[in-house]
Amino acid sequence: MMARTDRHCRYLLRQVSARTLLYSEMIHANAVLRGDTARLLAFAEAEHPVGLQLGGAEPDALARAAEVGQAFGYDEINLNVGCPSPRVRKGRFGAALMETPGLVADCARAMIRAVDVPVTVKCRIGIDGRGSYEDLRAFVETVATAGVQSFAVHARIAVLDGLSPAENREIPPLRYDAVYRLKQELQMLEVVINGGVASLDEADAHLELVDGAMIGRAAYADPAMLRAADRRIFGGPARAEPSRHDIARAMLPYVRRMCADGVPLHHVTRHMLGLFAGQPGGRSWRRALGEGSHRPGAGGEVIEEALTLVPERTSPLDVGLRDAARVRQDRATAHAP
Ligand SMILES: Cc1cc2nc3c(=O)[nH]c(=O)nc-3n(C[C@H](O)[C@H](O)[C@H](O)COP(=O)(O)O)c2cc1C
Repeated sequence: MMARTDRHCRYLLRQVSARTLLYSEMIHANAVLRGDTARLLAFAEAEHPVGLQLGGAEPDALARAAEVGQAFGYDEINLNVGCPSPRVRKGRFGAALMETPGLVADCARAMIRAVDVPVTVKCRIGIDGRGSYEDLRAFVETVATAGVQSFAVHARIAVLDGLSPAENREIPPLRYDAVYRLKQELQMLEVVINGGVASLDEADAHLELVDGAMIGRAAYADPAMLRAADRRIFGGPARAEPSRHDIARAMLPYVRRMCADGVPLHHVTRHMLGLFAGQPGGRSWRRALGEGSHRPGAGGEVIEEALTLVPERTSPLDVGLRDAARVRQDRATAHAP
């Protein structure tokens, strides 16, 4: 998500879940090729697995940008065919590309030839004027002929004429059935559903019918919602999940490293504002972190101070284990001679 899932945000999310696949913001192929590439693409080893999302509509530029992304170590290159912003539309990429499936196939083919990592596509279920299920299926089939095997589908159309980007994430109704049907009819493809997934319970329910669930806004607003993902979605071991405090503390060495490199503290902490969303003290945390991070010379101590404003509760599991240990100890004492 633009202005959201930069490297700092992804590093935070990685402290929450080790297995979830994370994505960059959309970066235009030309920015990768002509911009400050290291600043745009550099990321920490700890962020893996991470996909680079590219925008653009020129096969050659996308292929070269994909190559650069692979060289930087991204695990996947994703092509954006879903962004409805007027600027993007003017550049004739993003969601506007759903009008020209053949061009998307050409772009994808060039990218696939250029890299070894998977090339995937994120699209909408349609755009105004091309909003039927048949249009979606024809689009996906055409792009799949280029070798794309995985599609993330935002389950609402983008209205390119008349709605703002924000409205385009709310107003067109969600049509999950179109994404389910796509998977049912094109079994050989990986289909990932996106749009309005608000919890791991909902993700789990979608996974009965599709291969993956992509969560955007809900995970940004409340990163801790992903805590159970490794166990519930990826079948990892049932070890204790990190508390919100653990997650914040795990960010401290990273924050100190970034500050030492000259990164303003708020570039990192702005993604942490929602860490205590809906929790007692959550607002104080948000305020203290938001305000404190802009102080000149601010560093990790701002996080430590903000943490004192949110009560740290021991998880029920910890309490249970402690109680069990105490009972055992009491019994042992009772039986002592
Ligand atoms: C601020 C913001 C920026 C976004 N930027 C991108 C982007 O760069 N690339 C993309 O594929 N989708 C982008 N999206 C769309 C989300 O990835 C997602 O498709 C959409 O929000 C619906 O999913 P959600 O309900 O889980 O958020 C953005 C959404 C928001 C709110």
